[in-house]
Amino acid sequence: MSVMRTKSVEQSIADTDEPDFKLKKSLTALDLTVFGVGVIIGAGIFTLTGRAASTLAGPSIVLSFFISALACGFAALCYAEFASTVPVSGSAYTFSYASLGEILAWIIGWDLLLELLLGASVVAQGWSAYAAVFLSNIGLSWPEAIGPGGTIDVLAMILVAVLAILTTIGIKESLRVNMVLVGVKLFVVLFVIIAGIGFVNTANYSPFVPPTGPPVAGADEWYVQPLIQAVLGWEPSAFGVGGIFAGAALVFFAYIGFDVVATTAEEAKNPQRDLPIGIIASLVICTLLYAAVSLVITGMVKYTDIDTSAALATAFTKLGHPGYATLVSAGAVAGLTTVVLTLLIGSSRVVFAMSRDHLLPPGLSKVHPRFQTPWVITIIIGVIVMLVAGLTPIGKLEEMVNIGTLTAFILVSIGVIVLRRTRPDLPRAFKVPLVPVLPIISAAICLWLSLNLSIETWFRFVIWMALGFIIYFAYGYRKARLATGETLQQMTHHHKLEE
Ligand code: ALA
Repeated sequence: MSVMRTKSVEQSIADTDEPDFKLKKSLTALDLTVFGVGVIIGAGIFTLTGRAASTLAGPSIVLSFFISALACGFAALCYAEFASTVPVSGSAYTFSYASLGEILAWIIGWDLLLELLLGASVVAQGWSAYAAVFLSNIGLSWPEAIGPGGTIDVLAMILVAVLAILTTIGIKESLRVNMVLVGVKLFVVLFVIIAGIGFVNTANYSPFVPPTGPPVAGADEWYVQPLIQAVLGWEPSAFGVGGIFAGAALVFFAYIGFDVVATTAEEAKNPQRDLPIGIIASLVICTLLYAAVSLVITGMVKYTDIDTSAALATAFTKLGHPGYATLVSAGAVAGLTTVVLTLLIGSSRVVFAMSRDHLLPPGLSKVHPRFQTPWVITIIIGVIVMLVAGLTPIGKLEEMVNIGTLTAFILVSIGVIVLRRTRPDLPRAFKVPLVPVLPIISAAICLWLSLNLSIETWFRFVIWMALGFIIYFAYGYRKARLATGETLQQMTHHHKLEE
């Protein structure tokens, strides 16, 4: 069946050598780890921790973080094996094109777009919320109507525009900016942990797992009735063991990003060795920080009193230290900037890879002659993210990001097993231990987490996938290079003749 056609690993690698599609190879293992930490620590820990603790899990939110980390850890190993075997731009999309076949590759690419585009928009909105708090703390105020939660969030739109321009000019330059901002962000997270420990009151930890009860008033209903409960006909509820899992499915957002490291494979100097290092190191660092932050915050403030948007800053305000709160919000502004930047870079690289294969129009993947970046797609993505961030209400998109990502993780885990069978000969600088057991566990945990997402999220996801199938059958199915047999080399030649 032609929708199951695969693109050989050799062809994928050969495509990256074609001069007109060549990206600059400049990133080291340290660059990749910084890039990873830069994209992982973001709106998840700064905003969702508070919401998940106060509406779903209480102090046991730290267990939710560990459960999510487990899911991500297994998936990270699978990503690392793939990235070390197929070091090509496009991450999970490229991996699955080589192993699972075109239609599944398309599904993953489409999921990744959901993850990265909406993720960038969510974090831009979080950035704008913290920026507004910071501005008002230092005595400057931003008009409410064009700020976070207003009719149109101009603050978020300005941020996206500036970052899209930076990305177009060049990834190395933007990574340098990134490095400084990541430093600031790490400082702030450590500051919250160290300064916060002194304020921990152990009485706030009991009950550690609050008893199952009715949804917290004011919490969005879909945060407290996961698909599982809805299907089994259970009443919406919060806390208890179910709350720990629902919390894990929500804070999963906080770990998203290590997979984005794999989208820069073509720009790494030594991808086979450095990608696994970058992916795993950034995930481990973030897990430890998240566990510490969530323990400190739920220890500082009783979970029933935790702020649902800017918990890390307001915990200090509540304990009488507004100066600390200003510092933390300034750090959040710097920190969230890098997340939006990295998600923008990641999404342009996924579209780049898909359009190079002609699953999307090839004009999108034009590389700028001087900057050596895919500038057409970068600008289009910048505009889309600006509009979504500026115009959608806050708090509605996170779960969509999670479901897209979890689906991609499941397919990547299965892809590792498939590629081991179909191409045992390929050199693999990094190998997942205990195949097929470990990838199967990875897929199972991700599936379980996705079932803990709300029923509304599943509805929206089905609509997004239906849209994807329409585009695939209307365009990619017929135009794909695998269908027309046109190689990248011939295609470049045609373009030259036309010009
Ligand atoms: N993990 C990223 C965040 O928390 C997407 O913002």
